[in-house]
Amino acid sequence: QQLKPEQTPERGMWSSRFGFLMAAVGSAVGLGNLWKFPYLAGENGGGAFVLVYVGLVVILGFTLMLAELSIGRHTNSDAYGAYSKLKKGWGFVGGFGILAGFLILSYYSVVGGWVLKYIVASVTGVGADKGAYFTNFITSSVEPVIYHLIFMGLTAIIVIRGISGGIEKAVKIVMPALFIMLMVIVLRSVTLEGASEGLKYYLTPNFSEITLKVFIAALGQVFFSLSLGMGCMVTYGSYLSKQEDLEKDALLIPSLDSLVAIMAGFAILPAVFAFGFAPGEGPGLMFITLPAVFESMPLGTVFSLIFFILVFFAAISSSISLMEVTVAFGIDRLKWSRKVSVLVFTTVMFIIGIGASLSMGAWSDFLIPWIDGNSYGIFDFLDVVTSYYLLPLGGLLSAIFIGFVWGVPNAVKEIKTGGNFRTEKLWSVLIKYIVPILVFVILLSTTGLLDR
Ligand code: PFF
Ligand code: NA
Repeated sequence: QQLKPEQTPERGMWSSRFGFLMAAVGSAVGLGNLWKFPYLAGENGGGAFVLVYVGLVVILGFTLMLAELSIGRHTNSDAYGAYSKLKKGWGFVGGFGILAGFLILSYYSVVGGWVLKYIVASVTGVGADKGAYFTNFITSSVEPVIYHLIFMGLTAIIVIRGISGGIEKAVKIVMPALFIMLMVIVLRSVTLEGASEGLKYYLTPNFSEITLKVFIAALGQVFFSLSLGMGCMVTYGSYLSKQEDLEKDALLIPSLDSLVAIMAGFAILPAVFAFGFAPGEGPGLMFITLPAVFESMPLGTVFSLIFFILVFFAAISSSISLMEVTVAFGIDRLKWSRKVSVLVFTTVMFIIGIGASLSMGAWSDFLIPWIDGNSYGIFDFLDVVTSYYLLPLGGLLSAIFIGFVWGVPNAVKEIKTGGNFRTEKLWSVLIKYIVPILVFVILLSTTGLLDR
């Protein structure tokens, strides 16, 4: 394949269209779908959350995905460089994103470590009290940190191997396999005795439950789940060829991501009700519920093992994209080699992650005050600040950037190099007016400043 002038071996490039798609889907589909989406739905009224979430994906997902891909491909740069190349002084938009990715990976890797632990636990068993097993594990001081180290280390190894060598190869097999496995679990879950309560909870939106809080949670989740608002898709787009049909990609990636999230809800929420767990259980929901589902299946141990291995791969294909955002910054801006870049950033993220892990137990009294008037432990702080503030802010700024700085016509031109652009008019209005206003309003209410 011909390299564009800006493509250097240090940067790398996708070797095929399928490889890119799988990597982008691999970035999107991760713990956000399997771990976070079901528990957020469980905490925010079930069907009410699903409805708002899907609504926001339709409006924001496609629009911002296309925005980021077009900026990335046009500039062939890391997130910071992309914005500053197009307009001096705007690099900070990418800078915010890089910071967000950095903070997300610090705690994402901790949860990735939990998944590794549950691969092991699939074989050793979790005992009768699934909740106690989970809580004992995450509140302990040493074991989760070791798993976090392993997860971070594996991420680093793949990213060192570069774009087509590492990232692409890993995700091509995993994504389809995950999909099939999820189907099997959904079938088991929805046929459990007592599952219908959960199905009802998940599928019938109770309109009185659609509150501002649901919008806030759903907005943050849309960004997190679609890997938007932090330049991840800018970075991935920068490795794309001019022939790529960005419009198609921007429709496909959010659709697949949402499909997997909704399937994860089907896998988990009916089982929550069937086994008498609480839907508002929080971050432990997947880890507590699914072992109970597997116990009720023939060959449950095998299924559990395969499933958690697949979750691990989904998580790592997301974590490599998170790391790639930071690493691309190190390569392009700081002129570090890929290796140095990976090693330096990995070390710092690992250390922050130790804090996140300990905040579940030993350090749970250490709270950080935040502008919304609440105080959070380290893990929650990283989650809240990134999902509810940095990512929406990044999305807002990228929309304003295209609408009013780089200019919609320039973006349209870039998108059109890969083929027809059927939704040009619609997209132009969405990116310039609807998306910024919508995100701004929700972001403002997130701060809580309006209620004071
Ligand atoms: N989208 C990933 C998930 O749903 O698990 C998480 C993520 C990856 C967020 C990459 C942001 C990002 F840039
Ligand atoms: Na996702």
